[in-house]
Amino acid sequence: MSEPEASERGVVRTALTERLGIRHPIVQAAMGYVSGPRLAAAASDAGGLGLIASATMSLAELDQAIEETAGRTAAPFGVNLRADAADAAERVRTIIARRVPVASFAQAPRPELIAQLKDAGVVTIASVGARRHAEKVAAWGVDAVIATGGEGGGHVGAVPTSLLIPQVAAAVDIPVIAAGGFFDGRGLVAALAWGAAGIAMGTRFLLTSDSPVADPVKQLYLAAGLDGTVVTRRVDGVPHRVLRTTMIDHLIRGGAVAGLVRSARNAAAFRGVSGTGWREMLRQGQAMRREGGLTWSQVLMAANTPVLLRAAMVDGRTDLGLMSSGQVTGLIGDLPSCAELIETIMAEAGRCLDRLDETRKA
Ligand SMILES: Cc1cc2nc3c(=O)[nH]c(=O)nc-3n(C[C@H](O)[C@H](O)[C@H](O)COP(=O)(O)O)c2cc1C
Repeated sequence: MSEPEASERGVVRTALTERLGIRHPIVQAAMGYVSGPRLAAAASDAGGLGLIASATMSLAELDQAIEETAGRTAAPFGVNLRADAADAAERVRTIIARRVPVASFAQAPRPELIAQLKDAGVVTIASVGARRHAEKVAAWGVDAVIATGGEGGGHVGAVPTSLLIPQVAAAVDIPVIAAGGFFDGRGLVAALAWGAAGIAMGTRFLLTSDSPVADPVKQLYLAAGLDGTVVTRRVDGVPHRVLRTTMIDHLIRGGAVAGLVRSARNAAAFRGVSGTGWREMLRQGQAMRREGGLTWSQVLMAANTPVLLRAAMVDGRTDLGLMSSGQVTGLIGDLPSCAELIETIMAEAGRCLDRLDETRKA
């Protein structure tokens, strides 16, 4: 058999690349205040799929972000949204009207939203952290799932990626995008071996030169070791993996009362930055209590997240801010562009596949 061309080595075709019409099976995971037009367009332009994180944007900001992203790249990109947002239906209408190729949901989307998007030709993706969630959304008709293991950044489940992906891939017939701990070509090949059709990465894309995050924040991530993150419920009531900072240590050690006082203050600040009225915040809080089984103190804590994430990602406040992070930050030591990153990953995946092939022949 003839040696594959160097250019062929970096080409991996999967159900995901075919379904989305992208060159490489690599998704830039949604990150609030991080994955706006600049990062999403750079990831898509490099042959992956960029996702705009819209949960931290108003409807008008989302509309503007879509327009800017489409102006920066001709490649397919997507919008990530919360299915439980009060204006989810309007966001879906905007995605359809703006002809965004992909809609990805942070939680299980309602079947009628999926149907509406699919009728309009939009590819739908749902994030899941457990097999039963993957089975549920697959039955509702989503086109693909992003399954995130416990080493991932942000809100995470307890099952590690190495166990979750084979389990989910065996359970559903739609493409599974593996997430949680990926950063290189070996990881991509491992994900394919587990039955996934591609990978999604958050922390790795945050640590690129195309990411808009302030340099001191990036440096903190780069300096962290594999033990540099912690999963805590103290931030917003549900398990959240973040960089371990002095502020986080205080939060973990501090009493519930101190947490509540801080939460109330942040809720007030969030109202200020987001323009959300108290009546709307109360409505959202009641919905969270009902659907998420949360207590009022947990609901109040949830108001922490956008304010604290913004302080770090937008204002560069490493002292005050919340920095969601995957464990993988401990293995990352550079800030390539998205194009360099994706090219390096695909070249390494190609070499890795060749090496495995040699092992089989030996
Ligand atoms: C800084 C940061 C912000 C995030 N914000 C969001 C978000 O707004 N919505 C969401 O669904 N997931 C969010 N996530 C989770 C990512 O979409 C993804 O699941 C995770 O980063 C994958 O793990 P990795 O960081 O090991 O690649 C965030 C992750 C990070 C690191």
